[in-house]
Amino acid sequence: MDKYIIEGGRPLYGEVEIQSAKNAVLPLLAASVLTEERVVIRRCPRIADVLNMVQILGELGCKTGFEGDALIIDGADAANHEIPSALARELRSSVFLLGSVVARFGRARIAYPGGCDIGLRPVDLHLQGLRRLGVGVREEGGCIDCSCSGVRGAEIVLDCPSVGATENILLAAVTARGTTVIRNAAREPEIVDLQNFLNCMGGKIAGAGTSVIAVEGVRRLHGAEYTPLPDRIEAGTFLIAAAMCGGEIALRNAKSENLASLIHKLREISCKIHAKDDKIYIECGARRLSPKLVETSPYPGFPTDLQAPMTALACICEGSTVIVENLFETRFKHVPELIRMGADITVRGRSAFVRGVPRLHGADVCASDLRGGAALTLAAISAEGCSTVVDLGFVDRGYSDFEGKLRAAGARIRRVRV
Ligand code: EPZ
Repeated sequence: MDKYIIEGGRPLYGEVEIQSAKNAVLPLLAASVLTEERVVIRRCPRIADVLNMVQILGELGCKTGFEGDALIIDGADAANHEIPSALARELRSSVFLLGSVVARFGRARIAYPGGCDIGLRPVDLHLQGLRRLGVGVREEGGCIDCSCSGVRGAEIVLDCPSVGATENILLAAVTARGTTVIRNAAREPEIVDLQNFLNCMGGKIAGAGTSVIAVEGVRRLHGAEYTPLPDRIEAGTFLIAAAMCGGEIALRNAKSENLASLIHKLREISCKIHAKDDKIYIECGARRLSPKLVETSPYPGFPTDLQAPMTALACICEGSTVIVENLFETRFKHVPELIRMGADITVRGRSAFVRGVPRLHGADVCASDLRGGAALTLAAISAEGCSTVVDLGFVDRGYSDFEGKLRAAGARIRRVRV
């Protein structure tokens, strides 16, 4: 297991290149199963979740390989419909292979998916959607077994705008017989990216980004080459890093329109932010005014994936902030670790009441999930004194070369094997 050794308290200056979005690449990989032809995902980040998903594709019989930063997938020989349990438990996104595997093979079997322990994370909406599309779904012994003689289009209304359920239904419906309409669909930019990719493959989908998506089933999909959209959560993490440390950084390959809710909050805190083409510039002084209230909600609301980094920032704002986590039941595991660094936070249910302190101090802290690990790292590079952050396997799931990018911006951070 690795750990970070960090000497905090330095401002950040420089440029950071943002990776392609983890939460866009993962559904694109699931979509690659839908064609026997070659798929190329350019600028593919080599983060743990992507590498695990690539391994699953290999188990299904796909040939995969990197050529530089492009991932090549050849699904011609894919024939296995069973997603290996050990890998399925590694990551949540394995679940939306159900849609593409059952559409391709008429069968799909998976153990209940894993992923960050941030809440119950049911898959009932995924399974309801697949059943509406004519897929037989059996749940027994911790596994989900799907079978279908042919997916047929349907009208589907989601109880909540689930990102994964929307993606799973799109993957099953794109080659169905007939038309599918998804109502109360998730509106995240990653859904738009999946629509664009599937349409590049010959799909006929419209409406992604709104709460109503229409899919006209097509007989087959062909191969495609595609560059996924930038990772708005990685970009947001670095914007918050600058707000916590002070200084001035520029993000390359970043779309400010996908970060409007965060940028609005950072301006309330008194950061200066502007965007030009695919760059975002942020300049932050020593004063940080409390944003008072941060409530997570489905896109375009404040992203739950930036709640932990925002909580870390709120710890050193002037005044109090209430953070409300509306999407996941247990997404405050970073709070006890922030308190070890001198933060003043009280958690009651889904709310964290943060009273700002002038600075955090260094401490030895432990990550419990991906975004919590990023939040603790930001807290450590902004704190007075030395810190260690252990269990970097979580951070490695979603951030490529996190420490290298922070070091290039002036943070004193190094990674050592424990
Ligand atoms: C995706 O997870 C992301 N993961 C998560 O990012 C992100 O936090 C989440 O969307 C919300 O934006 C990937 O894209 C791989 P949901 P997902 O289904 O699809 C409830 C990260 O850090 N729900 O939109 O699992 C669920 O309990 C990760 O990058 C049901 O009730 O999220 C939750 O309260 C963490 N039944 C809410 O919907 C279902 O069948 C949102 O879940 C499905 C979900």
